[in-house]
Amino acid sequence: MEINVLKPTEQNEAEILIVGLSRHPENAEGWETVEERFDGRLAGWIKDGLSFDPQSLSIYPTLKGDIPRVMFVGIGDRKKMTEDDLRRSFGIAGKQLIKEKIHYAAIHVASFKNGEVNSGQVAHLAAEGIQMGAYRFADYKTGSNEVDHRLESLGFLTDEPSDAVRQAAFVGTVHAEAVNEARTLVNMPANILTPTAMAEYAQELGEAYGFETDILGRSEIEELGMGALLAVNQGSVEEPRLIVMKYKATDSFESPLALVGKGITFDTGGYSLKPKDGIVGMKGDMGGAAAVLGAMRVIGELKPAKDVVAIIASTDNMVSGNAFKPDDVITSMSGKTIEILNTDAEGRLVLADAVTYAKQLGASQVVDVATLTGGVIVALGKDKTGVLTNDDAFYGSLQDVSKKTGEFIWQLPLTENDKKRLRKSDVADLNNSPGRDGHMIFGGGFVGEFVGDTPWIHLDIAGTSHADAAHDLGPQGGTGAMVRTLALFVEKLGDDL
Ligand code: BES
Ligand code: ZN
Ligand code: ZN
Repeated sequence: MEINVLKPTEQNEAEILIVGLSRHPENAEGWETVEERFDGRLAGWIKDGLSFDPQSLSIYPTLKGDIPRVMFVGIGDRKKMTEDDLRRSFGIAGKQLIKEKIHYAAIHVASFKNGEVNSGQVAHLAAEGIQMGAYRFADYKTGSNEVDHRLESLGFLTDEPSDAVRQAAFVGTVHAEAVNEARTLVNMPANILTPTAMAEYAQELGEAYGFETDILGRSEIEELGMGALLAVNQGSVEEPRLIVMKYKATDSFESPLALVGKGITFDTGGYSLKPKDGIVGMKGDMGGAAAVLGAMRVIGELKPAKDVVAIIASTDNMVSGNAFKPDDVITSMSGKTIEILNTDAEGRLVLADAVTYAKQLGASQVVDVATLTGGVIVALGKDKTGVLTNDDAFYGSLQDVSKKTGEFIWQLPLTENDKKRLRKSDVADLNNSPGRDGHMIFGGGFVGEFVGDTPWIHLDIAGTSHADAAHDLGPQGGTGAMVRTLALFVEKLGDDL
């Protein structure tokens, strides 16, 4: 995305100007530079009812000046407008820009400001929201007449110093591009995005940003004794992959944060087979991996001061004569044995070995992110990410960050009684499915058994990683949930050092 910062009165090539329209718009800073484009007629139209309702859009041809059209974006009561509202408004605008086949859109920055939201924030939210809204998945249809239209440039019209606005717009662009990449990974079918293909993607990402990348194949995974990951992979013709990527902010790399992602490229449920309706969409069971890869892209671009190791355990979960079965007892990398009660509770198994590996690499903090349970959807709906943690202070920092990114997260308890039920088995140290109640807690809690005392946050994105319908910030399909929150969290941890 090309980013330009210009004065509101400067000649410019944009095809459309995006303007925030509030109640009493004349109070907006620099409003006269909007009015001029309508040769004095705008006030009358506004009086006649041009909508300033939040999230409304109206497009008008201009009467004067270089930019042929203006898109008014309703922001309602300026004082009440939040960053979240603004991001969503820009998302809606981004969708419209694609429909209008716009290549270059300009944003009238001051018309979106209020006491809380300054020009830098407007630029960040505009770049982020517009590009998230404008996302479309390049599908596999043949003979489509659709031209390959792309929004190519954004112009920010402001009287304020350009460097800060440009930098903010750049950061917003980086966030949106990473989210959109994660969405694409989630949307890709499992016959194309195999564990091997995901590892190749990670390898390329690592090369682009200078991460130290290790891709472990079956024999290395066997050598490490990752019996839990191998059990899930047992029924598959696809080789498993453990993706390890190190971002070194310091030379010592002594106590990195581990970002651990569930990378199940397809989840049939295994012998605890999913019903036919529940199986469709399970190409998205690598949403956690996508979130980690997206966050690493942001980290590669913005270079925070925090060491990070990304670990993704990837396989599909299939049925075959070789597949693991209920009643099997397996040995994880940690040495802990696990009684399999449900082969569909496979995510916690691969995460167990990934977390053990993270600890072996010296991780001092662990965040795992996974499409782990249908239970989180039952508990919180599809718009909230479920959280478990063993460290409230550590989690407090993530909460702060999620308020900035607008990604809603909500903590559930993990009690001693829950842990007791995870450890209840006649034949092994743990069982992988203590019961149908409290699903989300048992899923994440199982992973917690391998984390020990290391500060840990578990994010269950089974609901949030996929949208059933188009929404303000994007289309139906992969959402790129937690990409921005994880990336900003790493940045904050770096700033706090
Ligand atoms: N991948 C699923 C969770 C899921 C459900 C993701 C719906 C996205 C949408 C996970 O592996 C799973 O099957 N979990 C089971 C666990 C149960 C068998 C203990 C579940 O939630 O039903
Ligand atoms: Zn499953
Ligand atoms: Zn799964």
